Amino acid sequence: MAKITKSLEELVGNTPLFEPVNYEKKNNLGASILVKLEWFNASGSIKARAALNMLVEAEKEGKIKPGDTIVEATSGNTGIALATFAAARGYKFKAFLENGSSQERFDILKAYGAEPALQSEIPSIKKLMDENALSIDGIIEGVKNYSDEHGYFFINQMQNEHNPEAHYRTTGPEILEQTDGKVDIYVAMVGTGGTLLGTSKFLKEKNPDLKIVGVQADEASRIGADSGQDAIDGVAPFSNVPERFTTPFMLESGDKYDEVIEVSSLTASKTAKELLSTDGLFLGSSAAGAFTAAKELAKRPENKGKNIVVIAPDDGTKYMSLNLYK
Ligand SMILES: Cc1ncc(COP(=O)(O)O)c(C=O)c1O
Repeated sequence: MAKITKSLEELVGNTPLFEPVNYEKKNNLGASILVKLEWFNASGSIKARAALNMLVEAEKEGKIKPGDTIVEATSGNTGIALATFAAARGYKFKAFLENGSSQERFDILKAYGAEPALQSEIPSIKKLMDENALSIDGIIEGVKNYSDEHGYFFINQMQNEHNPEAHYRTTGPEILEQTDGKVDIYVAMVGTGGTLLGTSKFLKEKNPDLKIVGVQADEASRIGADSGQDAIDGVAPFSNVPERFTTPFMLESGDKYDEVIEVSSLTASKTAKELLSTDGLFLGSSAAGAFTAAKELAKRPENKGKNIVVIAPDDGTKYMSLNLYK
């Protein structure tokens, strides 16, 4: 019988869980590392889950209807995911990108039919930038006011509960099912915090003994670090950072994670190259960061025989201008 998919929305979720056995053997790892390959989602990243859920729920709640314009502050995967589903559902999409975002990011969004602009085009955000006082709240408020003034709908992934909810409903249950319930440690990096919060909430409810490990870039591997080193892209530090740089979901995740591991973009790059050569696994920047932390965990004697699940938000294709694979 023919098997034809007629909506990309059906291709969100149910991503594979992959074990790089050659890498494990070569590195003598005592635990299994199971990688959730999120680039198998339509639009190529984990953000398909949250973007689709936020769009569908806003439509269900009567907040938007086809023909309307949606707005989001994003420079990466959320933008591409929203552009994908907005196109098919008949919405216009305006994306406010972080200043300093690459030309590639503008071009990708334009190709999808979205309208990219810089966050500094919003006067209140520009003012905060000039005063060196930019904050998460300042960005949210600026984009919200812009949307209200134009009669547009602000998706607001940083505060929209349907972001973590997508992971509570899909990512968590998939992991539980794929491991037959045998997941001992869950590892992820953090952007808005939606993935870590939603997934760990579900998994901890099923197994309170499960260990949650949040991963962040070390100081030299963050945007604006002036270290000459790449920043780990698409994610933000969430632990021991000034409150103005934390999102609500990061704060809420605080009682979910049991440990924070910091990784360097240099180590992540080494790990990523090795994985490519041992198993052909082509990880994106934050996936390489999370995997590096998983490897550290897999080396600990107390974790021998355990299953470590690690989130790989996207693959390496969007990071070729970094030093990740050089
Ligand atoms: C590459 C990459 N990794 C990780 C994340 C983390 O996702 P979340 O926003 O759910 O914390 C994102 C989100 O933007 C991302 O683009």
